[in-house]
Amino acid sequence: MKPDKSATAVVRMESDAGTTDRLPQAVPDHTIALMAEPRALVPQQLEERRLIHRDASSRVQSDAFRELRTRLLSLANGNNFITLVVAVSPRSGASFVARNLAAAFALDETKTSLLLDCNLRYPDQHRALGVATDNGGLVDFLDQPSQGIAAKIYATGVPRLRLIPAGSAREDGGEYFSSFRMQALLQHLRSRYGDRYLFLDGPAVKGSPDARILSELADFVLLVAGYGCDTPAAISQAAAHFAPEKFAGVVFNQVP
Ligand SMILES: Nc1ncnc2c1ncn2[C@@H]1O[C@H](COP(=O)(O)OP(=O)(O)O)[C@@H](O)[C@H]1O
Ligand SMILES: [Mg+2]
Repeated sequence: MKPDKSATAVVRMESDAGTTDRLPQAVPDHTIALMAEPRALVPQQLEERRLIHRDASSRVQSDAFRELRTRLLSLANGNNFITLVVAVSPRSGASFVARNLAAAFALDETKTSLLLDCNLRYPDQHRALGVATDNGGLVDFLDQPSQGIAAKIYATGVPRLRLIPAGSAREDGGEYFSSFRMQALLQHLRSRYGDRYLFLDGPAVKGSPDARILSELADFVLLVAGYGCDTPAAISQAAAHFAPEKFAGVVFNQVP
């Protein structure tokens, strides 16, 4: 990764998000911010995974993602929350943004983040993060909740950042995402720890109804536009899929 060349421009858009007081207060029984970390990746490994880190070489990008973190936190009245990250069109970098935004929250030692790969047709986060998904992932849990979710939450090598991979590839994401099980899972994951922030990596708005369905499960929606690729009309059209009070803004991402 060359952070200076592939800088992610973060642009705030007008939005009503955060003006309502609708997030339930988290009631954490205890904190997980100090949880054990099996293996921490070194900066070079983080760069191979296209992940921000604390070193100066990552400064431009990590500042951009920290700014996004600050913006989301300012909308949230002090509660933890669920953010959906989706692209206007495929290959704009939504998974890249979701992963790095989750990493930016985890850089704050008082917070933990949990990334859920909700792109069931083309799941990619486990590959990008180099996680071996031996125990399956999200859809495997939704198919068989008796397996429990704990074994499907994987360490990533980034302290305090965990991944729930998509699991076995499926075509019919909508059915899973509109299920009561999915709702109950997210509610459980969010309310269990007050310092845990959830990020849903969804498929692009163009070509799939899943992004809109997933937005119903999220507190905030971030739309990722390919810098110089998606037209203003396409961006507005994609934004119109989401409830204005959840819409946190557009991230213009320059794919190198
Ligand atoms: N700003 C960026 N800097 C470096 N690599 C990027 C950036 N944006 C995207 N990429 C890379 O481009 C590819 C496509 O991005 P991805 O996040 O998978 O797109 P999407 O999820 O929107 O389909 C991935 O290999 C990703 O790591
Ligand atoms: Mg993706």
